[in-house]
Amino acid sequence: MGWPYRKLVRPLLFKRDAERAHNFALKFLGRASQDAFICNAIGQFFSAPELPVELFGLNFPNPVGLAAGMDKHAAAVPTWEKLGFGFSELGGVTWHAQPGNPAPRMFRAVADEAIVNRMGFNNSGAEAVAQKLTEWKNSGRWPEHPVGINLGKSKITPLEDAAGDYANSFRVLRDLADLFVVNVSSPNTPNLRQLQDKAALNEILAAIQELNGNQKPILVKVAPDLSFEALDEILELVAPRNIAGIVATNTTISRPQTNDSVAQQIYNETGGLSGRPLRQRSTEIIRHLHKQTKGRVPIIGVGGIFDADDAWEKIVAGASLLQIYTSLVYEGPGVTRQIVSGLIERMKIAGAHNLKEVVGTAN
Ligand SMILES: Cc1cc2nc3c(=O)[nH]c(=O)nc-3n(C[C@H](O)[C@H](O)[C@H](O)COP(=O)(O)O)c2cc1C
Repeated sequence: MGWPYRKLVRPLLFKRDAERAHNFALKFLGRASQDAFICNAIGQFFSAPELPVELFGLNFPNPVGLAAGMDKHAAAVPTWEKLGFGFSELGGVTWHAQPGNPAPRMFRAVADEAIVNRMGFNNSGAEAVAQKLTEWKNSGRWPEHPVGINLGKSKITPLEDAAGDYANSFRVLRDLADLFVVNVSSPNTPNLRQLQDKAALNEILAAIQELNGNQKPILVKVAPDLSFEALDEILELVAPRNIAGIVATNTTISRPQTNDSVAQQIYNETGGLSGRPLRQRSTEIIRHLHKQTKGRVPIIGVGGIFDADDAWEKIVAGASLLQIYTSLVYEGPGVTRQIVSGLIERMKIAGAHNLKEVVGTAN
């Protein structure tokens, strides 16, 4: 679908404001999710070949997952596997339902294949998402691939009460997903990233693990703007708080140089930047985390993955699983299959039988 999407579908979608186009696509996928016939038809076109990964005690049919933020309301849970994803991360979900920041709040920098967003965790709240997930479970349409949930802090909750806020969300969602990601790295909730500070993060993880009893894998998502020293401090919590893995990375507040005046205008917007310009920094963070932990802490690599080369770069830097968001917007729904197929080719060339054999081999 690469060519038809870029030449036919994308121009129509890109005529709309970025958030409207997103809502339109999600509405379509949400409707498709209700209908077994359409869902299976989507699967016929877009399903990806098998490249199994076993991690966190879970079986991933392939390593390419849907990144957080695409399906904040769990609207299209059954379709993500039909679009070839090896897992999905729903949310960000907060304890209190909240509208997010005023629109416009999502912008495309087309020349660089990037997005700037300041959505601000617009979501229906943990209890409503729990209800939606229960509906999907009861409908018999729950996907076979692992499903994760991204947890954020409600805007109205003061930073000092953050642990209770995250724990409340976790309590109502615990039995409805396979893994959880503690998101303390979004640039769009005031001061949220201060929760990456070791003491604050420790408190959040302690509150969650108390409810969890170490049952579900709990991961932490980090910002690409953290120094290596700050990342190392987070790593000190891995053993005491039983962190199952790190998701690296969220969007960046930094901006690339550009000569494109339209892109420059977009970069002047406040928010987090994703897509191609994030690729290199996100890979650097993955490489650092892998080296520091000697490969003992699984990493989900995310940031600017558009093709199999980008995906391979992240894997050999130390990522065991991957996620995409922005390339889905620019390349369309065929991108997952393309990446997985390309990875299988590269594995053959490397003489590897299991993805684990190549993780971190460039370090
Ligand atoms: C519009 C938008 C909303 C996002 N919302 C979330 C979110 O709620 N929680 C989160 O952890 N990351 C969120 N992200 C970040 C993505 O999950 C991902 O980390 C980032 O976009 C980098 O990957 P990419 O370059 O493939 O897009 C969002 C990204 C975008 C573009």
